[in-house]
Amino acid sequence: MEEGPFGGSCRFPGQGIFAYLNYLTPKSRREILELLVNGLKRLEYRGYDSAGVALDTPDGKDIAIVKKSGKVKALQDEIVSKGESLQIDLSTDCHVGIAHTRWATHGVPSEVNSHPQRSDVGHSFVVVHNGIVTNYKDVKLFLEKKGYCFESETDTEIIAKLIHHLYTQHPNYSFRELVEQVIQQLEGAFALAFKSRHFPGECVATRRGSPLLVGIKAKTRLATDHIPILYSKDHRPHGRGDMPILPRSDSTAEFQPLEDKEIEYFFASDASAVIEHTNRVIFLEDDDVAAVKDGMLSIHRLRRSLDDSHSREIITLKMEIQQIMKGNYSSFMQKEIFEQPESVVNTMRGRVNFEDNSVILGGIKEYIPEVRRCRRLMLIGCGTSYHSAIATRQLLEELTELPVVVELASDFLDRNTPVFRDDVCFFISQSGETADTLMALRYCKNRGALIIGITNTVGSSICRESHCGVHINAGPEIGVASTKAYTSQFVSLVMFALVMSEDRISHQQRRAEIFNGLKHIDEQIREVLKLDEEVSKLAKDLYTHKSLLIMGRGYNFSTCLEGALKVKELAYMHSEGIMAGELKHGPLALVDKAMPVIMIVTRDPVYVKCMNALQQVTAREGRPIVICEKGDTETQSFSSKTLEVPHTVDCLQGLLTVIPMQLLSYHIAVLRGYNVDCPRNLAKSVTVE
Ligand code: F6R
Repeated sequence: MEEGPFGGSCRFPGQGIFAYLNYLTPKSRREILELLVNGLKRLEYRGYDSAGVALDTPDGKDIAIVKKSGKVKALQDEIVSKGESLQIDLSTDCHVGIAHTRWATHGVPSEVNSHPQRSDVGHSFVVVHNGIVTNYKDVKLFLEKKGYCFESETDTEIIAKLIHHLYTQHPNYSFRELVEQVIQQLEGAFALAFKSRHFPGECVATRRGSPLLVGIKAKTRLATDHIPILYSKDHRPHGRGDMPILPRSDSTAEFQPLEDKEIEYFFASDASAVIEHTNRVIFLEDDDVAAVKDGMLSIHRLRRSLDDSHSREIITLKMEIQQIMKGNYSSFMQKEIFEQPESVVNTMRGRVNFEDNSVILGGIKEYIPEVRRCRRLMLIGCGTSYHSAIATRQLLEELTELPVVVELASDFLDRNTPVFRDDVCFFISQSGETADTLMALRYCKNRGALIIGITNTVGSSICRESHCGVHINAGPEIGVASTKAYTSQFVSLVMFALVMSEDRISHQQRRAEIFNGLKHIDEQIREVLKLDEEVSKLAKDLYTHKSLLIMGRGYNFSTCLEGALKVKELAYMHSEGIMAGELKHGPLALVDKAMPVIMIVTRDPVYVKCMNALQQVTAREGRPIVICEKGDTETQSFSSKTLEVPHTVDCLQGLLTVIPMQLLSYHIAVLRGYNVDCPRNLAKSVTVE
């Protein structure tokens, strides 16, 4: 697989962990707080109903926690207002701060439910947590019997209290050993970062089913690119019923330091939070326990499994900070829409050779002979990622000559769909962490199918659990609504179709047309983006309406589904993507002169059928807005308003027709006064089923 690991989770709504440890690196408390708050801002897109930080008190004897409901900005204001008591001008050489943005899963968004959660009023242990602990009620009951009183409604609080309980039972255990004991008792999925009054200057973090990485910023060159895994003896003696008291788990390996002076560590849910500080990161695997003590990082596992590697690689990320900043755009979404001329080129970069019309997908190259022998291709994803599969299915059928099945991950799992060893299953996911998609992946993997990941997130769970895959290389997508990831997924699947057909003489002409289309697609997208002003005017006519129907068929049907999804999620307006061939079977009854209709009609094999549909709509006094090809006067004569896009080869036309729909949904949402980057009830990473 290319560009980093691709080769273990679910989409937890929101939630972001950011922890920062400076060792022998003097920082003022103000700098530390700014660093923590900025880290949270980078993660805010993941979930944003409340936020909090924990740091040492100025005398170093206690832990100060500041929490606030609402945006990270509210937390920042709270910190500023507490500036004096936090003594922000004091400097410290070694310090651990942990921070969190929360998206409520257990308990309403409130200060008490925000993280960090604490073990006791004396702050022996504090923890930030992403994910859901499914057995928290059992653990809570156990702890209540031991006399613990709970202050929040969260599942997270049990973690803070459990580690405290273990500490009181085993005061000689190291911080890392205590965490190891804790996670043995937890079910569900989580990423955790701990801080403790009893272990000053130490931070322990771990994950299972929720992403977590460690960023490393060292003054001197790191001595190694790999951190060896240390194994502990597993002494788990009991079943779940009788909660710990666990015997100590001794480390079997020597403690191997990464570095021993002037070093800073960052723990974060994703790379966007650390990239401005360092591009050297380790993606933790499920059940890794990463501990920093005396400035030294070590990674532990409780027990060996057959497919464990012996070390974790320190990866150098190629992501630039500018890539995650809004620039001159009013929102990340707008920026991401306008980045598409570049992002599609990045998807093809180093892969498509326009001189000899060839494609090499390094991440799947070795598997192509196996793919060619398969019985069928299955494309599985959710939401926009699913739509990219719909968009390319026809071309995949044509160029691979294989049956192609497209599935919504959730429905696929509900049906216990039969999957065979000679199936090739694609898992398409921007985040690489979507729960349903990941569960479907594991389901197919268990049945022996070949698993190909198509993701935008290096080091993500889907990326790691796939046999092989293609990184779409669209760059970080921060806006909750997926835009540039869609077009890059589309292009990635087209590239795959081209690889599969390279030896087929009968497809050469078709392939040449597609290569030619891909070659010019960036400039054509740039041209479509010039429609922005026109689309914004159109939005003014539409934004007060209750509903919007979007119709098309063939290669453009996916644009209808994707356009309607964007309108729903951003503008909170009812919208339906309708297969034009189905009009007569029901949807036509919705059409009258008041119902806004958008039709997508391009000069492809179903053009005549689309024109029929258009006429059916105008015959019912509908006044459709048409997205058509430049200069298509025939289509224009049936429309109340047209948006003209350049002509490209039929199977790529959807890359162009989707852009006016992205722009339209954006403008309608802005006119309705909504935050396009953070639509209500949604989050970028959906790690729950
Ligand atoms: C819509 C959107 C969602 C995602 C879906 C899958 O704009 O963003 O529909 O496409 O939740 O997410 P990924 O691609 O991360 O698996």
